[in-house]
Amino acid sequence: MFATLRPPIAQPAIPIDLVEAIHSLKRDLNAVILAHYYQDSDIQDVADYLGDSLGLSQQAANTKADVIVFAGVHFMAETAKILNPTKLVLLPDVNAGCSLADGCPPDEFARFKSLHPEHFVISYINCTAEIKAMSDLICTSSNAVRLVEQISPHQPILFAPDQHLGRYVMNETGRNMVLWPGSCMVHENFSEKKIAQLQMSHPDAGVIAHPECEIGVLRHAHYVGSTTALLKYAQESDWNTLIVVTEPGIIHQMQKQSPQKHFIPAPPMGNCACNECPHMRLNTLEKLYLCMKNKSPEVTLPESIRREALRPIQRMLAMS
Ligand code: 13P
Ligand code: SF4
Repeated sequence: MFATLRPPIAQPAIPIDLVEAIHSLKRDLNAVILAHYYQDSDIQDVADYLGDSLGLSQQAANTKADVIVFAGVHFMAETAKILNPTKLVLLPDVNAGCSLADGCPPDEFARFKSLHPEHFVISYINCTAEIKAMSDLICTSSNAVRLVEQISPHQPILFAPDQHLGRYVMNETGRNMVLWPGSCMVHENFSEKKIAQLQMSHPDAGVIAHPECEIGVLRHAHYVGSTTALLKYAQESDWNTLIVVTEPGIIHQMQKQSPQKHFIPAPPMGNCACNECPHMRLNTLEKLYLCMKNKSPEVTLPESIRREALRPIQRMLAMS
């Protein structure tokens, strides 16, 4: 017996000038391309807006486009959909996840939350819509400290899912918080020892780091901030050489803004390329083109969860 072979699903031919084809589709669809700094540089270069998680959600909240093409990871595109239920939201690779979102399953988080019934739940935006729906307030790495400072000191706080960002916020605010034990697989992988060695071989270099890093790594940093904040500091500070302790995709913008400066990507623990986010890097220019051509993969979610998840996001946008 032979199985009947189905003809392969026809994929549109890939045009030679992908960039021009993407711009043309963008006009046809009335689309906006939002991209995170951890995307490949060719994707960054075709984006209408590049930003950190806060900036990207503010853009998504205010866009007049009919279609949002999100060159980032799933929770980012999902946030755009929560804010824009009637728009088509496309993600070039539907498998672009996040270890923080994946490491906080809704059923386990519901149990964890029930152990702390008096706590105000602040969730980092790097989580699923289900977790957002169980939260009182969403934060990003650029506003977490400022938002926690706005909560009454008598109010106990549960912070999820990034324990390292949570610990950084605790250090900055002097607040105690209950932490969900999640982490970013990329930022957790930077080696404090190798950063210290790099500092010794580059005594004139400054160190900038993202608060998703472990506290031991952050102790070496002259400046800690979200991707947008790191970019601004890299441009405005007097350092001519900077060791960059975050996903190295951001160095493309740093180098564009300050071509005379020297940026050194911080090394990971092993000899792997694991300081690059394997989720962010699933997106390619070709997949960006195909998702616009096919209007797929589309990000959708149940309306009941969307409505519940919208509340803490709107609260964050109002407080930011
Ligand atoms: P920000 O761009 O908000 O700093 O977040 C970094 C990150 O890891 C996104 O997944
Ligand atoms: Fe998630 Fe970390 Fe990748 Fe950001 S860099 S998407 S936090 S795994």
